[in-house]
Amino acid sequence: MKMRYLVFSTLTTVAGSLQANSLESILTTYEANGAGPFSVQQGSEQWQRVFTHTGKGKSRSCGDCHGQDLKKPGRHAKTGKRIEPMAPSVNPKRLTDAKKIEKWFKRNCKWTWGRTCTDQEKGDLLRYLQQQ
Ligand code: HEC
Repeated sequence: MKMRYLVFSTLTTVAGSLQANSLESILTTYEANGAGPFSVQQGSEQWQRVFTHTGKGKSRSCGDCHGQDLKKPGRHAKTGKRIEPMAPSVNPKRLTDAKKIEKWFKRNCKWTWGRTCTDQEKGDLLRYLQQQ
């Protein structure tokens, strides 16, 4: 019984530090490219920025799909599909997979902002999202 608990708690500790490492390792990569320091405040502003690059008079922002309250599920602006909450405080799976984060930054920055996000912007956004 005691042994089983020990194994379990060791596993969860390892999983926890892997998750933290994944996000921190992305931020370290950005810093190696010359970005940083990262700011929660800047990230918050970027999250709320409204872009009108489509030329169709319709604006776009990150909240279009992820919603305004990040602790609640969002809804995809195009497909209407449910998107699980972005806030790691209610959705611990968030910001744990570096590949996934980069993949979606690529797509979402393009769709929302009409361009790729810079390492500085991504770092700020991650610091902001991390705190939600
Ligand atoms: C057109 C809809 C849409 C918009 C707008 C959008 N996203 Fe997303 N985003 C998604 C979908 C779909 C996923 C993947 C499904 C999921 O993770 O629930 C996702 C996932 C992510 C993830 C991965 C999170 C993780 O670790 O699980 C990040 C980071 C992210 N989005 C950031 C942004 C940022 C920053 C913006 C604004 C620049 C933005 N998104 C705008 C649809 C959108």
